[in-house]
Amino acid sequence: MKSRIAEQIKIAAGVDFSQIEIESWIEKPKFSTMGDFAFPCFRLAKEFKKAPNLIAAEIAQTFKLKEVERTEAVGGYLNFYLDLPLYSAKVLKEVIDKRAGYGQKDLGKGKSISIDLSSPNIAKPFSMGHLRSTVIGNALANVTEKLGYKVIRINHIGDWGTQFGKLITAYQKWGSEEQVKTSPIAELHKLYVYFHEQAELNPSLDDEARVWFKRLEDGDEEAVRLWEWFRKVSLEAFSAVYEKLNISFDSFNGEAFYNDKMNDVIAMLEDEGLIEESEGARVVRLDDEGLPPCLIQKRDGATLYATRDLAAAFYRKREYSFEKSLYVVGNEQSLHFKQLKAILKKLNILWAEDLVHISFGMMLKDGKKMSTRKGKIVLLEKVLEQSTALAAEAIEEKNPNLKEKQQVAEAVGIGAIMFHDLKVFRQNDVHFELKDMLRFEGETGPYVQYAHARACSILRKAAVKDSSFSNSKVAPASFGEEERAIVMKISAFEEVIEEAFAEWDPSKIAKYAIDLAQLFNQYYAHTHILNELDEEVKAQRLLLLESITIVLKESLRLLGIQAPEEM
Ligand code: ARG
Repeated sequence: MKSRIAEQIKIAAGVDFSQIEIESWIEKPKFSTMGDFAFPCFRLAKEFKKAPNLIAAEIAQTFKLKEVERTEAVGGYLNFYLDLPLYSAKVLKEVIDKRAGYGQKDLGKGKSISIDLSSPNIAKPFSMGHLRSTVIGNALANVTEKLGYKVIRINHIGDWGTQFGKLITAYQKWGSEEQVKTSPIAELHKLYVYFHEQAELNPSLDDEARVWFKRLEDGDEEAVRLWEWFRKVSLEAFSAVYEKLNISFDSFNGEAFYNDKMNDVIAMLEDEGLIEESEGARVVRLDDEGLPPCLIQKRDGATLYATRDLAAAFYRKREYSFEKSLYVVGNEQSLHFKQLKAILKKLNILWAEDLVHISFGMMLKDGKKMSTRKGKIVLLEKVLEQSTALAAEAIEEKNPNLKEKQQVAEAVGIGAIMFHDLKVFRQNDVHFELKDMLRFEGETGPYVQYAHARACSILRKAAVKDSSFSNSKVAPASFGEEERAIVMKISAFEEVIEEAFAEWDPSKIAKYAIDLAQLFNQYYAHTHILNELDEEVKAQRLLLLESITIVLKESLRLLGIQAPEEM
């Protein structure tokens, strides 16, 4: 609608500004008494050296658009009042026609964006930080896809590095094959923690670990065999989590994948004269960028996390020719990604600017970081189980006769955790409190899911068919203020998706879903629907409800959350 209004303003005002620019000035007034849209005339006033209100009045004279009932020039603004029945008909018809495709755009047609997300470390439990990366990254991937981009979801598994030297050392000394087979992650993690405890008493263990890692890098048979085994069992455990979260990846190329791709990068750095020796190790100095030096190769030739990320950046550019390359990784790695970009810039890589670190805050419990060190671990599988159990209890209470109870409990329990993570701006810390997340009131996932299920149940009772729109009169003449608010919200969906994309911020979608669910609940509390006697009015209200279910479901889908039709 905004773009159509902008088009007409451009014609009416006869200016050189582009339609897109004019469109970006159009506002949505806080109160519908001030119009459904408003155009501030101050910028044009400057251009024409005239009073803003005069400009507004002049545009008003020639402005013409079918869905705009009237305009009003006040305080330098031109306010547009929509013809509600006509506009509602247009918006709702579009939703019903396009269904899940509503809000879709082809902004990114022919372009691709790679997203590095989740990326847990082998032989360690899946941490809350990795959960945040998974959930935020997946939502951003869905939003990006919705706008027509090809998305490559990359799980940059942490499957290489000195920790494998430690793990192999620990396994050789204290490990049991049987136990690793029965509960791989817990057992490997136990060994890892034990290694650290012992190494504090006996520092020579660290030397042994270094030797083992070097052997691994040199392809020693025993080291490689153990590494492959640890990797395999860990990935199997992670897959179970991804299955529960309903998330999949296009690539599992982890750190080890780049082992044979680092020499090229190092050679490039050498050719550009960027490598310096420092206490036997090799570094790239970044003083002029105000950053500490980046370690590229250790004294013994071993490469590092940063070296592998450099190789990965080049590989991804070659392989996917990305327009943007996102890294959904916690705040604590900001320096790492700054260094990565700074090095690429020193290499005169033009696309260095296209690397974006999508950083996020911590997951806190009782005010403290939920950590994985020193054995104080919170196992994600356990958390998902607990949450599902709590959801099952709530469902048992609300709707004991529900079919597929277990499935719905999972959708609600897991959706609650995801929604809780996504509803705040990602940079903020998240306070982990299962009870809060699972409330059916307030700004929660279950609240949105429940609103959706309730609307679905009304539609079921009314037995509306998909063709409901064509059966009802085209312009819903019965619509008033409450319906207006809902129609305006629904029509803003596309814009919200674009904002979420532009700011890499899925919380925009979560907030939108809450708003729409609230509007529906208020509406439902005040309005007769099933027992409305006027068949025509009833059909119009049902049509509105059907549109609400479609948009709520699609909002949840973008966030990676299911929308059960009954709960
Ligand atoms: N495995 C790393 C960690 O857990 C995250 C990797 C993020 N991706 C990357 N390309 N560096 O800290």
